[in-house]
Amino acid sequence: MTDPLIRWREYAGTAVLLDGFHALKHALRFGAAVPVAVTTDRRAVLALAEELASDVRGVLDTLLAEVSEEAYVSLVPRPHPTGVAALAVRPSREANLRSLARTPRTAPVLVLDNPRNLGNTGAVIRLAAGFGATGVVTTGTLDPWHPTVVRGGAGLHFATAVERLAVDELPVGPLFALDPEGEDIRGTKLPDNAVLAFGSERSGLSAELRARAGRLLRLPMRPQVSSYNLATSVAMTLYHWSASGGAPAS
Ligand SMILES: C[S@@+](CC[C@H](N)C(=O)[O-])C[C@H]1O[C@@H](n2cnc3c(N)ncnc32)[C@H](O)[C@@H]1O
Repeated sequence: MTDPLIRWREYAGTAVLLDGFHALKHALRFGAAVPVAVTTDRRAVLALAEELASDVRGVLDTLLAEVSEEAYVSLVPRPHPTGVAALAVRPSREANLRSLARTPRTAPVLVLDNPRNLGNTGAVIRLAAGFGATGVVTTGTLDPWHPTVVRGGAGLHFATAVERLAVDELPVGPLFALDPEGEDIRGTKLPDNAVLAFGSERSGLSAELRARAGRLLRLPMRPQVSSYNLATSVAMTLYHWSASGGAPAS
């Protein structure tokens, strides 16, 4: 077997960092190609797998290489408490675009219009994975595959299609934009092919996205409260879609 440190350096420039046990577990479960995984304590990580994720224990046994503490911190700048990290091959833009364009669609696409907070974006990808959404599209400059987003998403980028696009490249489908000034969402059944758009944490929906939206919908909120957090707004909207029958069986 190639030295894991050489292998790590070979992939580090292009691959996605999976920092921590849960990120690695999810990536493996959802079919990520993981060429290298390292830990400072193989026995402890395999015991954790035995306890929490026996479905991936076998593959981890084959994959995991033990390295020194010193080598580990040289690879992973902010080591996760579970002491395991891996690199996964990032799905190609073409593959993501194909998933986002496939019709008929059985679950919505989420659009984050110029999100600013990496943690929020990760939390939304985790929600998309949980509800079986078709994908998460971001507009603007934030990289939805940034290591902090992948960490916030617990490695669940591999369970959906995550891509950055311009507003005029959004997937087809009825576009509903979420905004506190819209109509009450409770009066609307969201279709499975919906494209659900959410505004930036700082400035809300851009004029460009607003102009394209067929409908503006609001989540119930008491007067005097200005807005909800972005990820919690996505959670409520996906729950509303699921409550009318769309979500996968749990
Ligand atoms: C933190 S909020 C944006 C606040 C921003 N300062 C503004 O002016 O709109 C982020 C996004 O969450 C969604 N959101 C928050 N509260 C909402 C509500 N009550 N109804 C519908 N969408 C909401 C919207 O898409 C909003 O653009």
